[in-house]
Amino acid sequence: MKNISMIAAVGKNLELGRGNDLIWHFKEDMKFFREQTMGKPIVMGYNTLISLPKLLPGRLHIVLSSKNLNLGDGVVVVHSMDELLEEVMKYPEVMVIGGASIYKQMIDYSDKMYLTEIDDEAFADVYFPSFNKNEWDCSLISEHIDNDIKFNHVLYKRKGS
Ligand SMILES: NC(=O)c1ccc[n+]([C@@H]2O[C@H](COP(=O)([O-])OP(=O)(O)OC[C@H]3O[C@@H](n4cnc5c(N)ncnc54)[C@H](OP(=O)(O)O)[C@@H]3O)[C@@H](O)[C@H]2O)c1
Repeated sequence: MKNISMIAAVGKNLELGRGNDLIWHFKEDMKFFREQTMGKPIVMGYNTLISLPKLLPGRLHIVLSSKNLNLGDGVVVVHSMDELLEEVMKYPEVMVIGGASIYKQMIDYSDKMYLTEIDDEAFADVYFPSFNKNEWDCSLISEHIDNDIKFNHVLYKRKGS
C-alpha cells in the first residue's frame, strides 16, 4: 500500500535486535529516525513498545497486541493484522517501526523502506525479513561513520508502486 513505509536499522546479516533491545545506537541514526517519523503515526508490536524508554513525542502510536491494553492518549491498540490494515487506511502515511514480527507481517504491504544499513555484524535474536532487492528501487540518502562503523541511510521503493 502506498501509505505504508517501514523504517529499520539492520546489520550486514539483517540483524535487528537482541534481548528486546537495539544492537547499535548511533546518534545520527536516532536523528534520522526522528526526522522520518515526526508527525506521522508509528506502527509497532508490543515488544517494541515496551522496549522504548517512553512514548515518542509528536507521533501517534499504533500498537499491535493480543492483549486488551489501555495505554492512554496517543496510543491506539489493534489486535490483528486486519484491524491494523483498517486503522492505517485513515492516514496519508504510517511508519512501521518494528519489531521483527511486525516487519515480517507488513513487508508485503509496504511500498517504501527506509533502512539504515550498518556495515557490522553482531549476535542477534531477531532479524529483518530477507527481501528480493530486484523488486525494489534503491537510492542512497546519506553515508555516515560512528566509532569506525560505517552505516548508510538507504531508501527502497517498491518497483511499479
Ligand atoms: N533495528 C531496528 O530498527 C529495530 C526496530 C524495532 C525493534 N527492534 C528490535 O526488535 C525486537 C522486538 O521484535 P519482536 O519481533 O520480538 O517484537 P515486536 O514485533 O515488537 O512485538 C511482537 C508482539 O506484537 C504483538 N503482535 C505481533 N503480531 C500480532 C498480530 N498479528 N496480532 C496481535 N498481536 C500481534 C504480540 O504482542 P502480545 O504478546 O502483546 O500479544 C507480539 O508478542 C527488539 O529486540 C527490538 O529492539 C529493532
